[in-house]
Amino acid sequence: MLSAESAAVVRATLPVVGASLDAITERFYATMFADRPELLDGLFNRGNQASGEQRKALAASVAAFATTLLDHPDQRPDHLLARIAHKHTAVGVTDDQYVIVHKYLFGAIAEVLGQAVTPQVAAAWDEVYWLMAGALIAMEARLYAEAGAVEGRTW
Ligand code: HEM
Repeated sequence: MLSAESAAVVRATLPVVGASLDAITERFYATMFADRPELLDGLFNRGNQASGEQRKALAASVAAFATTLLDHPDQRPDHLLARIAHKHTAVGVTDDQYVIVHKYLFGAIAEVLGQAVTPQVAAAWDEVYWLMAGALIAMEARLYAEAGAVEGRTW
């Protein structure tokens, strides 16, 4: 559950984040793939990357997760998370990669939204990201274990 403090900040900034998803997505992938080209070749699918809607899925799902946390603070949106976790385990995402995605996603948010991203705003969205990442990492670990797969090596 999101802290009351962060919930208020996320509620106030959700409209501007939602309206900037295209620009955030653009900047996020451009900077991440420039620094980590192996992720584009080894993990992300170039075909998916070509389609604007699929590209937007990651950042959009963080905003969707935030909306659900605000509207239903006592429920974890497992339906949203399960679909992503299945996709991630099918392609072989590993828990250490969440730090990489965080770095470039939050770098993109700061660049696109500029001064709107005060330390307080960054901290509130960080809380959303790590709540979501933690839940996904746990689900993915369970899926890998159930399949008898070594994390990151798909079957
Ligand atoms: C909190 C962090 C993350 C969120 C919210 C997230 C969200 C999503 C969503 C919504 C999808 C589309 C699922 C579908 O097709 O139904 C997806 C797919 C995917 N995600 Fe993540 N993801 C996160 C972290 C990561 C990390 C750490 C990696 C690895 C670097 C990663 C790699 C991928 C890949 C390769 C796909 C397949 C689609 C494609 O090729 O573009 N994701 N993710």
